[in-house]
Amino acid sequence: MSDLNSLAELESQLTDIKHAFEQEFERFARFSDPVFVKTGTVPGTIAAQLPDLQSYQDILAQLRTKYFGKKSALAAAKKSIGRVAPEERSSFGQFVQQTESSLLAKLEIVEQSLRARIATERIKRDSIDVTLPGRRPRHGHLHPITLLREKIEDVFVSLGYAIEDGREIETDFYNFDALNIPQNHPARAEQDTFYTTAGLALRSQTSTVQIHAMQRRGAPVRMIAPGRVFRRDTPDPTHNPMFYQVEGLCVDRGISMAHLKGTVGEFLRRMFGPDTRTRFRPSYFPFTEPSAEFDFSCFKCGGSGCRICKNSGWIELGGSGMVHPNVLRAAGVDPTEFSGFAFGLGIDRMVALMYSLDDIRLLFENDIRFLEQFD
Ligand code: DAH
Repeated sequence: MSDLNSLAELESQLTDIKHAFEQEFERFARFSDPVFVKTGTVPGTIAAQLPDLQSYQDILAQLRTKYFGKKSALAAAKKSIGRVAPEERSSFGQFVQQTESSLLAKLEIVEQSLRARIATERIKRDSIDVTLPGRRPRHGHLHPITLLREKIEDVFVSLGYAIEDGREIETDFYNFDALNIPQNHPARAEQDTFYTTAGLALRSQTSTVQIHAMQRRGAPVRMIAPGRVFRRDTPDPTHNPMFYQVEGLCVDRGISMAHLKGTVGEFLRRMFGPDTRTRFRPSYFPFTEPSAEFDFSCFKCGGSGCRICKNSGWIELGGSGMVHPNVLRAAGVDPTEFSGFAFGLGIDRMVALMYSLDDIRLLFENDIRFLEQFD
C-alpha cells in the first residue's frame, strides 16, 4: 500500500517537474520555429540581436543543468526507480524515461536553432559588403595665403631667385643692428616687438633674412624669403599680431634703382596681368637708401577707382629701396664692389583684397566653413 502511495507521489512529483520545466521553457518555444532560424525573428516579435541570442543560449544551458543535471529532481526520480515495487518498476521507469526524453527533445530543438541562428548572425557581422560605396576621405586644399605665396614664389623662381627659409626667432643683431636700425629706434621698443629671452625676439619683419642670405651665399645673391612675422598689434579687422611677408633681395655689381623698378613691375604684371602699372613713392627705411614704397594699379578696376582701391586706383603693397651700405657691410658684403635692392610686402592683406574679405583675422582662425570656400 505504501509502495502504491509512494508511486503516485513519485508520479505526481514527476508531473510537477514537467510543468515547472514547461513553464520556464515557454518563452523559448518560439525559437524552434523554422522561420526564426531563417530570419532571426518569429512573426509578432522583434528580431533578436546577436548579444540577446547569446544570453538566451546561456539561460538554456542553465535550464539544462537545473532539469537534467546530476542534482536535478529528474535525476532523483531516476534513482527512485529502484525503490518502486518490482511489478510497477518497469512502467514507472518508462514514464520517467519518456518524460525526460520529451523534455530534452524540446530543449534540444531550441538549442539547435539558436546555434544555427547565432552562426548566421556571426557571419553577417563579420562579413564585409564589398558592394557598399566606400567612405571617401575629405580631401583638403591649400590655405589661401599658401596659394598666393606659391604663386609669388613661382614668379620669382622663374626670374632666377632662390627661396630662403628664415628664422622666426632672431637675435638683436639680425633684428636690428645688421639692418642699420639704431639703438633708439621705436621699432626696438617693447610695445612693438615680442621679446622672448633676453637678446631674442620674434622677428617683426622678414628683412632679417637678407642678412642670413648674404652671410651664407655671399654676393651676388638673388632671393626671396616668405614667412611669418610678429608685432604687438591689437587684433582688429585689418591687423593681426602674426602675419605674412615676402622679402626680396638682389645684390650684384652695378645694381640700380632701375633694376628694382623693373623687377617689381615685372612681378606685378605676372601676378595681375600685363596692363598692371607700378608706382614708387619716396619713403624712409633704415636699411635702404634711397627708400620707396610701391603701389600697383588696382587689379579690380584697372585704376579707374573702386571700392577695393578706395577710389584711388592704386593698391599699396610694400616698401623697397637700395640696400644701405651699412647692411651690406654687416652681412660681410663689400659695398664698394656690390650694390643691391630689396623689397618687402605683406601677403595677407593682398589675399584679403583679392577675396574681398572684410576681416583679415578670418585667415588665421582655421574655421573649416571659411577655408573650404577656397578649394
Ligand atoms: N621690412 C619692411 C616692413 O616690414 C618692408 C621693407 C621695406 C622691406 C623696405 C624691404 C625694404 O626689404 O627695402 O615694413
